[in-house]
Amino acid sequence: MPQRTIAITAIFIAAVVIASALASESTLAVAPQQTTGKTVLDAVYTQDQAMRGGALFAANCARCHEGFCPDGPPLVGPLFIERWREDSLAALLTFMTGLPRVLGGVLNENEYVDVIAYLLQSNEFPSGAQQLTADSIGSVQLVSKGGPKPLPSNALVEVVGCFAHDGEDTLTLSQATTPIRIHRGIESTPEELKAAEGRAAGTLNFRLQNVQEIRPDFKPESVTGHKVLAKGVLGRQGSGSRIFVTSFEPLAAACTP
Ligand code: HEC
Repeated sequence: MPQRTIAITAIFIAAVVIASALASESTLAVAPQQTTGKTVLDAVYTQDQAMRGGALFAANCARCHEGFCPDGPPLVGPLFIERWREDSLAALLTFMTGLPRVLGGVLNENEYVDVIAYLLQSNEFPSGAQQLTADSIGSVQLVSKGGPKPLPSNALVEVVGCFAHDGEDTLTLSQATTPIRIHRGIESTPEELKAAEGRAAGTLNFRLQNVQEIRPDFKPESVTGHKVLAKGVLGRQGSGSRIFVTSFEPLAAACTP
């Protein structure tokens, strides 16, 4: 294929991926952080499994992810880890099972679990005696080699906190929970709202940006002192953390759980 055709194909493929991700958002919703304290540092896959996954990866994925004409991002190295860390491995599995055919969406769930084992091995995480399975994957957290860390700037997150506003423009969350990584910053399902409402208060503070833009008729005083759920892009600059909000939902009229 000439370079130009390849570039156009890549753009088309990216558009298909985004469109299909939006269309199937309910099936892609992963309950964030169902952890039992295990991480990828705890030898959560076997060598044999990684070998099986390596063969599947070579046959179905490598041509885009490490071939001579790489259209896809590398799945080995710090950039890959930055985009997926502090989240359960189930998020990666959900992403893979949602891939369209043209992008490698040809394997079954157990095969993708083996591919994930191979990616863990390629990223130099230790192997052990227990296989990774579709059932256990939700309880394993992906972390970088140094262990759990705060999420990076630009991660898509959700936070529950106590809403306040100071003047017209400064909207804040106080007593806020540690941000949880999410993969779509859209309005929540009733179940997600219920789970968020039950979350205990934290100790963090955030400034909120973009709330008025996504909710033109928003009156800050109407939810001041309320417990709210904010989703959006995390920004850590200078004095404090901000969230560029993509979804804002009041949960309860008081902040105490
Ligand atoms: C035809 C090319 C192509 C094939 C084949 C392909 N991919 Fe991809 N993949 C892409 C592109 C392009 C992206 C970036 C767009 C996106 O993130 O949706 C991507 C993104 C990804 C990501 C997210 C990367 C990140 O850091 O966010 C994962 C994981 C992934 N692919 C896994 C796989 C697996 C597993 C297979 C094989 C079963 C596979 N891909 C086959 C093109 C491909």
